[in-house]
Amino acid sequence: MKEFNQNELADITAKLVEISVETGNWMKEQTHIHEGNVEIKTTNNLVTVVDKESERRFVEALHKLVPEAGFVAEEGTGERSASGLNWVIDPLDGTTNFVHGVPVWCTSVALCAGTIPLSGVIFDPSSNECYSAYQGGGAFMNQHRIKVSGIDKLEQALLATGFPYDDFGREQQYIALFRELMRSTRGMRRLGSAALDMAWTAIGRFEGFYEYGLNPWDVAAGTIIIREAGGLVTEFNGANNPIFGEDLICTNGRIHHQMIEVVGRFF
Ligand code: IPD
Ligand code: CA
Ligand code: CA
Repeated sequence: MKEFNQNELADITAKLVEISVETGNWMKEQTHIHEGNVEIKTTNNLVTVVDKESERRFVEALHKLVPEAGFVAEEGTGERSASGLNWVIDPLDGTTNFVHGVPVWCTSVALCAGTIPLSGVIFDPSSNECYSAYQGGGAFMNQHRIKVSGIDKLEQALLATGFPYDDFGREQQYIALFRELMRSTRGMRRLGSAALDMAWTAIGRFEGFYEYGLNPWDVAAGTIIIREAGGLVTEFNGANNPIFGEDLICTNGRIHHQMIEVVGRFF
């Protein structure tokens, strides 16, 4: 598999920022999307022409940027590379919000070597916040270096989570865990965009985020951004394959073991 030095990763990330901002700003202009333009993939899992066109634009531009990389893209564009070097793309994270006019959605794209993210960008066109990171280079929001919050007590933590669309297999445990955290933290939020939940953890607005049933494209960019901002990202049991695993906890690091302990009581 091709390897990249720090200068190459910095250049790739800067270009990924440009492509994300250009594509995200185009998406923001597509205000004609409403119920009539929406397809249902599976129960409550929506897709629009904007998701598809955004993905087409990303794949076209990123293929030119790193021709040897394949694609793991939510709407199925491009082929996964057997070498293990892949762009992992969520062209629109938060489609339900987008369709309902809730301005909480983003693009989320990472370059991964196997299960390891090398570079990632999350762009929120509604707030013009662009989160970026590459391995060893720190994490940024626009031009500003970011880091996770300093809170180290669960009772002072503001947490985010998400609810599954249709995979209710672990609903009972999930609700019991939610009840426990609702009582033992400062509060719980559900934005509707896993990538922004992670970006907001990286910048210190949330102390942590957890969800099960996510896909690699929801979390690959967020994983490198949080790690470079000083936080931790694991599976519920603490294992180290959150992007391609079953479930994910990310935190500022300081409350990570407390979260793993609480989640472990229910899962
Ligand atoms: C969804 C969002 C949501 C999360 C779902 C994801 P999509 O992504 O990230 O917050 O709860 O699990 O599938 O479908 O809007 O790209
Ligand atoms: Ca998504
Ligand atoms: Ca999506």
